[in-house]
Amino acid sequence: MSSQIGARLIGVGAAVPSAVVTNADLQRLVDTSDEWITTRTGIKERRIVRGNETATGLAIGAAKEAIAYAGIDPGAIDLIIVATSTPDNLYPSTACMVQVAVGATRAAAFDLEAACTGIIYAMAIGQQFIGSGTYKTVLMVGVDIHSRFLNWEDRNTCILFGDAAGALIMQATDGENEILSTYLRADGSGGHLLSIPNYGTAYPFSGEEPPKAMDRYLKMNGRAIYEFAVHAVPEAMRASCAKAGIRIEDVDYFVPHQANQRIINAAAERLGLRPEQIVSNLEEYGNTSAASIPLALRDAVRRKQIVPPATCALVGFGGGLTWGAAIVRWTASEHIANGEAG
Ligand code: COA
Repeated sequence: MSSQIGARLIGVGAAVPSAVVTNADLQRLVDTSDEWITTRTGIKERRIVRGNETATGLAIGAAKEAIAYAGIDPGAIDLIIVATSTPDNLYPSTACMVQVAVGATRAAAFDLEAACTGIIYAMAIGQQFIGSGTYKTVLMVGVDIHSRFLNWEDRNTCILFGDAAGALIMQATDGENEILSTYLRADGSGGHLLSIPNYGTAYPFSGEEPPKAMDRYLKMNGRAIYEFAVHAVPEAMRASCAKAGIRIEDVDYFVPHQANQRIINAAAERLGLRPEQIVSNLEEYGNTSAASIPLALRDAVRRKQIVPPATCALVGFGGGLTWGAAIVRWTASEHIANGEAG
């Protein structure tokens, strides 16, 4: 690692749809209650796209906020990676649409799919490109609109997810490296435990149309995913700290994927973390998949829970199965343009 060029995060941003759907609203759709949802998940409300709101639009909003936070010229961005499982189109990629909208004319752009772990995968790729000296500035966006893939008559799944985008900007630094480690894992043998099937090309080509009545809703084995998560999160945390050469006690803030407060609390307890170290905003947004970690970081920075300099453990898990973590030093103050507080 010593021959690699160091990197740091310089910006964070997020965008959410304006429509709020509360647990009381869901009570009118399925046999559930605010009490059940709150005690089993910690979620009180979520944002859901309406009208012409799109994944691309949210991704652009989050990217613009991160660019403003960092105070950089969009022309300086070398690479845009959008992590999403729910793009508006198969192509053009969401990353190409972000590129043109933010004016990152020099940037290469592509999407990646690693479900809720997508932003951690994007960070690991960004770090590699910067570390090798290929690029200096990388914009990473996580965006998902799961509301389009939920069966709103299935109380097991429709209560969990919300729509959002979150963005991070990573840049090469002459100073100390602040991306202390990235750690990625996958286990395809558990792929069936969480899936959105039948949107791809998996039907035999014989000239006929794909079956009309395909079930295309998100499928989840909730208990199995819960068990996976409460093991995967501590494993990723321990491995990424070891890779970074730090102890778990050296981590100031734990910024986990926001899937379920019980998963977050169980993992934090196993790791011996204190409640004030836990970053959580899923009460307000639910599980926003690839967006959730940067959205949680953005909110924690905004409400001054995280004050730079701080060592943060970003830990993701999700469909694939995939999981992973990034240990970062957060030192980035918000850029203040023209003397105005941003
Ligand atoms: N309202 C009321 N009752 C509900 C309900 C809802 N929204 N959803 C499920 N139930 C019912 C079930 O039907 C079941 O009833 P039954 O015993 O009569 O069959 C009962 O509640 C208990 O279900 P169970 O699956 O044991 O609940 P749980 O405590 O495991 O909680 C989850 C369910 C989904 C909240 C939990 O398993 C979980 O969070 N799993 C991880 C999901 C996740 O994070 N996915 C995304 C990963 S990126």
